[in-house]
Amino acid sequence: HLLISMIYEWTLLLLCGILGSGFSEKPSWFKNISTSLFKSPGDILIGGLFPINELTSELSKRVKPDDLECNSISTYGLSLALAMKFSLDEINSKENLLPGITLGFESYDTCMQPAVVMRPVLQLLTKESTEELDIACNYTDYKPRVIAIIGPNNSELVPVIGKLIGFFLMPLISYGATSDMFSDKETFPSFMRTVPSDRWQVAAMVQLLKEFGWNWVSVVGSDDEYGQKGQQQFSSMANQESICVAYQGLIPVYSDPEQAVKEILNRIVDAKVGVVVVFSLPKPARDFFIEVIKRNMTGVWMASTAWALNDVVATLPGINSIGTVLAFVDITRPLPLFTPYIHELFTKMEEMQIPQQPDTKISPLDNICPRCSDLSQANVSMVQIKLVQRSAFSVYTAIYCVAHALHDLLGCNTTHCTLNPRTDNVYPWQLLQSLQKVSVDLEGVNFKFDKEGNPNFGYDVMQWNFSDTSDTTVHLDIIGYFYQNLTINKNKIKWHTKNGKEPMSTCSSDCGIGQVRRVKGFHSCCFDCIDCKEGTFLNTSDDIQCKSCPAGQWSTLRSTSCVYPIYTYLDWSNYESIGLILGGILVLASHVWVGALFFKHRGTPLVKTAGGPLSGLMLLSLVGTCISLVLFLGQPGDVVCRLQEPLNAFFPTVALSVILTISLQIVCITEFPEKSSDHLENIRGRGSLFVILGCCGVQAGLCGWYVQESPSLTQYVASLEVTYVKTFLRCPVEPMLNFGLMLGFNVLLALVSFMATFMALKPPGQYNLARDITISTLSYCVLWVMFIPIYTSLNDKDKSIAQVGVSLLSNIGLVVAYFFPKWQLLVKHPELNTVDHFRTFLEGVPPTPPEES
Ligand SMILES: *[C@@H]1O[C@H](CO)[C@@H](O)[C@H](O)[C@H]1NC(C)=O
Ligand SMILES: *[C@@H]1O[C@H](CO)[C@@H](O)[C@H](O)[C@H]1NC(C)=O
Ligand SMILES: *[C@@H]1O[C@H](CO)[C@@H](O)[C@H](O)[C@H]1NC(C)=O
Ligand SMILES: *[C@@H]1O[C@H](CO)[C@@H](O)[C@H](O)[C@H]1NC(C)=O
Ligand SMILES: *[C@@H]1O[C@H](CO)[C@@H](O)[C@H](O)[C@H]1NC(C)=O
Ligand SMILES: *[C@@H]1O[C@H](CO)[C@@H](O)[C@H](O)[C@H]1NC(C)=O
Ligand SMILES: *[C@@H]1O[C@H](CO)[C@@H](O)[C@H](O)[C@H]1NC(C)=O
Ligand SMILES: *[C@@H]1O[C@H](CO)[C@@H](O)[C@H](O)[C@H]1NC(C)=O
Ligand SMILES: *[C@@H]1O[C@H](CO)[C@@H](O)[C@H](O)[C@H]1NC(C)=O
Repeated sequence: HLLISMIYEWTLLLLCGILGSGFSEKPSWFKNISTSLFKSPGDILIGGLFPINELTSELSKRVKPDDLECNSISTYGLSLALAMKFSLDEINSKENLLPGITLGFESYDTCMQPAVVMRPVLQLLTKESTEELDIACNYTDYKPRVIAIIGPNNSELVPVIGKLIGFFLMPLISYGATSDMFSDKETFPSFMRTVPSDRWQVAAMVQLLKEFGWNWVSVVGSDDEYGQKGQQQFSSMANQESICVAYQGLIPVYSDPEQAVKEILNRIVDAKVGVVVVFSLPKPARDFFIEVIKRNMTGVWMASTAWALNDVVATLPGINSIGTVLAFVDITRPLPLFTPYIHELFTKMEEMQIPQQPDTKISPLDNICPRCSDLSQANVSMVQIKLVQRSAFSVYTAIYCVAHALHDLLGCNTTHCTLNPRTDNVYPWQLLQSLQKVSVDLEGVNFKFDKEGNPNFGYDVMQWNFSDTSDTTVHLDIIGYFYQNLTINKNKIKWHTKNGKEPMSTCSSDCGIGQVRRVKGFHSCCFDCIDCKEGTFLNTSDDIQCKSCPAGQWSTLRSTSCVYPIYTYLDWSNYESIGLILGGILVLASHVWVGALFFKHRGTPLVKTAGGPLSGLMLLSLVGTCISLVLFLGQPGDVVCRLQEPLNAFFPTVALSVILTISLQIVCITEFPEKSSDHLENIRGRGSLFVILGCCGVQAGLCGWYVQESPSLTQYVASLEVTYVKTFLRCPVEPMLNFGLMLGFNVLLALVSFMATFMALKPPGQYNLARDITISTLSYCVLWVMFIPIYTSLNDKDKSIAQVGVSLLSNIGLVVAYFFPKWQLLVKHPELNTVDHFRTFLEGVPPTPPEES
């Protein structure tokens, strides 16, 4: 809102400049301008304190109070005094503001000296229309000559006069004193100002630094009240905002600064900062930048209001090589009528030029401006200086505030006032109350004082725009503004750096995500970055330590958060899975093939010997084993995990128990040949059924126990201690004892069969059934015994693969060792598939003992 109206204002001004170069539309009240510069009568008087002259005598030589000479005129102060005159003339010409009341004024010179300012202040405090300062018991009804004082410009004078005037509760409205000290309303109860306090400037600078992420800066101040205070405030505020001040230096004001400035610059270079805040009055700033230019230093310089607009620095030769200057300047509006007014005034004065008559009787302090009678149109340029234009607005604002407060106090409407200052008493303390509430619309902008007497606006942020080579003047470009918050247009900034980019000014570059800072040295801005380890994380970069992950979660190196782990499993599409599936299909194919062959030759002696229907059962169970391996693939679930190991153990039991019965038959026939032939039918029938059911029963019991004891997958996952973000998940194989018992039982069956058959004698001239069993069970035992050490040494994924693999191998082992020789006989030597060749096993006839040994 503020910015928009400002643009509007400037546009208006520009239009005025283009349209009326000859000030064509002069207001009619210009005709009545009086040529009395410092005094004007009125119903109510307002006092003014301006630095119109500069001291020309030496203070230390002062013997008598009046041994003071202020003879060197300051056009700045004179212009501001004229701005006051202009403002009051304009107000008096306005019929709706204070109707029927004329405001008068008395301006005095401060000479910027406490010793000088006392006299005009006493003068302003004298009783109305007398020259006396009353000593009263009660000053409530005391009516001094003026109702308010505008000024002074310098912060140094306010402590001297502010407390005195504060006693009368007379408004003291400064247009230039920026020290934050005066915001204290206990000490300076009647002090107000139309310029922002230095503390705001510090806040604005700190916000600007933050805006660009510069946290490693130096601050240089002039060694006086202004610089010291500014530096001190800046350091403490920067500290609060975690900006590190690498170095602070003071530029001497009273001694030769050259050596000290050199030292300061050495330290700035050593600190490797990119940004230097310069809190200084114009002259020390000039001394400082002379050295900066000599050294060819470049960087970002942040200018305080005191020197930001001052030509003393801006006109230094070579100033355009120092880099980027960002400046803070009080927000002001242009006063379109001010220059035409002065033009009119000076023209008038030139016309009625009175011949010089040096008046020796009047003391120099009373005769404020002896040479002002020579002012002519040639002097108009003195009010066109930027600094003057800006300060003039502050004076203008102060006076308008007084006028509006009076307007309220006197109960005026647009045509009439209820109180008449000529007859009714109006006191300064009443005006002070009225001023605290006043709200003025100036050129479309609302102005009021806050509780501390400070204005409700802040600063323009400007950049020094060095024009190219030839033209040495510095233009000021507005790049943003500050009131409470900073608003900045970064695109408008032209960086005077090597690559034209925004420069950096940090001690350490920022840590990456998931890294924690470890401060080294004294400054919090200088640090090393440490990675957060696995299992820890750093959520916000403000934390000083990596935090451990909550239970059940884990993180990788340099994490900002923890995650629940992701589980992988033997996917159907894995290479391993595909290999196992292909293997399984081959094994199944061999089953089918053998089964078909046996079915074709069913009833032949060989098939009968091999177990007949029992070999069919054996093949079926081997097929079952093979198919049950499918449970090891794909995503595991509670049910799948319950079935996986038991099925994988149970099916081989069926096959092995069939082999066992056949082995037992062989043992019977070979060891007890006499009895066996009689009981052969029993052994074949009920006996083998009994053995098979018995074995299966025992294995079923073991499986049941395993299922009972082992945790479900869900319980198992919940109990895992998470130290990974991704891992292979397989069904829990727990407890190991039960798992071992199930597999061990199978191995035991195979082992018993092996023991039973490997000693059996080969019936001469007959088929050696025992050999097939020996080899097949031996292979089974060997494979599963080897499996134990392999299994224990593998990781979870390979354990699953190994189990499936060994299972398939033992399966094909049984098929090959048990059925392959029989296949060979069936196919290659069908002539041997005779009862004779198998008589021993078919009929229980003991083998004829070998003829010779
Ligand atoms: C100028 O002054 C005269 C006499 O003092 C007065 O009559 C006239 O109204 C004034 N003009 C303006 C524009 O104030
Ligand atoms: C001062 O004078 C005012 C008005 O005359 C009166 O109200 C007030 O009580 C007086 N104060 C003292 C301390 O006498
Ligand atoms: C007071 O006026 C002088 C002009 O002589 C100027 O240099 C100085 O900056 C002003 N002081 C402040 C605090 O504005
Ligand atoms: C600064 O630059 C000028 C010209 O480029 C050179 O003559 C001078 O020696 C430099 N000064 C320093 C201190 O580097
Ligand atoms: C006014 O201008 C004249 C001529 O330029 C100059 O000599 C004189 O000092 C100026 N007066 C003031 C008060 O600046
Ligand atoms: C101003 O006040 C007077 C007296 O109180 C009254 O007569 C007049 O109408 C008021 N004018 C306006 C514009 O309100
Ligand atoms: C600097 O000033 C020149 C001329 O005064 C102007 O053309 C240019 O746009 C300004 N640069 C910036 C960055 O505003
Ligand atoms: C400044 O920012 C604060 C917080 O973001 C906000 O409350 C306040 O209104 C802002 N002030 C202005 C003048 O924009
Ligand atoms: C990280 O911080 C965000 C909010 O700042 C919060 O929502 C989230 O839960 C935090 N993460 C952890 C792991 O604490």
